[in-house]
Amino acid sequence: MAKPSRDWSLRTRCIHIGNETDPATGAVIPPIHLASTFRQHHAGEWREYDYSRSGNPTRTALQTTLASIEGGCGALAFGSGMAAIHAVSMLLKAGDHILAGSDLYGGAYRLFHKICDRAGLTVSLVDLTDLEAVAAARLPQTKLIWGETIGNPRLSIPDLPALAKFAKDSGILFGVDNTFGSPALIRPLEWGVDIVMHSATKYLGGHSDLVGGTLAVADPDLYQRLYFIQNATGAILDPFSCFLTTRGLKTLDLRVRAQSQTASELALWLLAHPRVEQVLYPGLPRHPGHELAKRLMGGQYGGMVTFQIAGDLKQTAKFCESTELFQLAVSLGAVESLIEQPATMSHASYGAADRARFGIGDGLIRLSVGLESFEDLRDDLEMAFTAAGLSA
Ligand SMILES: Cc1ncc(COP(=O)(O)O)c(C=O)c1O
Repeated sequence: MAKPSRDWSLRTRCIHIGNETDPATGAVIPPIHLASTFRQHHAGEWREYDYSRSGNPTRTALQTTLASIEGGCGALAFGSGMAAIHAVSMLLKAGDHILAGSDLYGGAYRLFHKICDRAGLTVSLVDLTDLEAVAAARLPQTKLIWGETIGNPRLSIPDLPALAKFAKDSGILFGVDNTFGSPALIRPLEWGVDIVMHSATKYLGGHSDLVGGTLAVADPDLYQRLYFIQNATGAILDPFSCFLTTRGLKTLDLRVRAQSQTASELALWLLAHPRVEQVLYPGLPRHPGHELAKRLMGGQYGGMVTFQIAGDLKQTAKFCESTELFQLAVSLGAVESLIEQPATMSHASYGAADRARFGIGDGLIRLSVGLESFEDLRDDLEMAFTAAGLSA
C-alpha cells in the first residue's frame, strides 16, 4: 500500500506536494497562472482566488511545497529574502527590541539598523553561540530573536533547540534565516523555532535566475498575522519566479548533497594549504560548531566555505578576482560556484568597527561551492593563490 503523503521523504515531497497533475489537461507540470484578477460569481461573495496580491494558484503551489518540507502549517513567498525579513520585523511595534545574531547577513544588518530604526525598533547584536551572552543581552522590551542557522560569513552554528527554549520561556519570538542551510540540511521548525526564512534566490531556486524570499511557520495564528502583513504591504513573489522556485526545489536535496560533498573536500584541501590561516567550515571537526552541526544537520554541512588567507585587503581582492570557475559575485547557493570578499562585498554595509568586532577581516574569503567537479574547483583556487602572489 502507498505511504500517506505526510510520510514521504523531503525529496519526494519536493517533487509531488503542491505539484499535482493539472485536472483540466492532465499536464504533469501545473500551468503558470499569470492572471492578476479572478472573476467572481456574486458581488461580495469571494471564491478561493480574487486578486493575485492576496493569492495566486502558482504561488499557492510553491507555498504548499514549502510548508510541507519545512514541517509547517503554512508558508509565504515574497519578492525577495529582504522583503521576507522585513515582514517579520513588521510583527513588532515602536519601542520593541530585536536581539540579532552577530554573524549576520549584511542586508539584514542594514534593514535592522537603517530601516527598522525609523519605525522605532532598536536592535543589538550578540553572539548567538553564547547562550549566557544572549540571556545577558535580552531586554524587557526584546520581542524578537533573529539568527541564522549557519551564520554569514563566519559559518557559526547557534544551538537552535536551546535558543528556542530560551525564547519560549521568555515569551519572545524566535526567527531564523536558513538560507545557508536550506531545508535539505536543517528544518528549524522541528527544533522549536517559530519562523524560518529563506532567500529563495539561493539554494531553493538554485540556478541564479530569480530573486525571492520565503517564510514558514508552525503556528496558524502567526501564519495569519504574517499573511495579513504580506497582503497589506504587497511584497509577493511573481508567478514566474514562483514557478522557477518550485522547479528548483525538485533538485534541492540532490544539489545540496553534492555541494556538501565537494565543499567538505575543498575545506580539507584549504586546511592543508600553507597560505591559509583559518578555514571556517562546520564539517571540520575543529570548527567550534561541528558537534552541534552534526546533530542538527544529520552529517552534511552545506556548500558554503569561508577561509582566511595570509594576505591584506588588496591581495585578498586580487585572489578573488583571479579565479575563473569561481565567479566574483555576491549571492550563493546556485549550480555555479561563486567567490566574494565579505569585507568589501556582502558585509560592506556593516560599519568598519562592527566588521572588526565580529571577525570580518580583510583576508576573509567566502566560497559558494556549486556543482562543478572538486578537481576543477581546487585547481581554480590554486591558480588564484599563484596570481595573488601567495603560492605555496
Ligand atoms: C543569508 C542571507 N539572508 C538574506 C539574504 C537576502 O535575500 P535577497 O537577496 O533574496 O533579498 C541574503 C542575500 O544574499 C543572504 O545571503
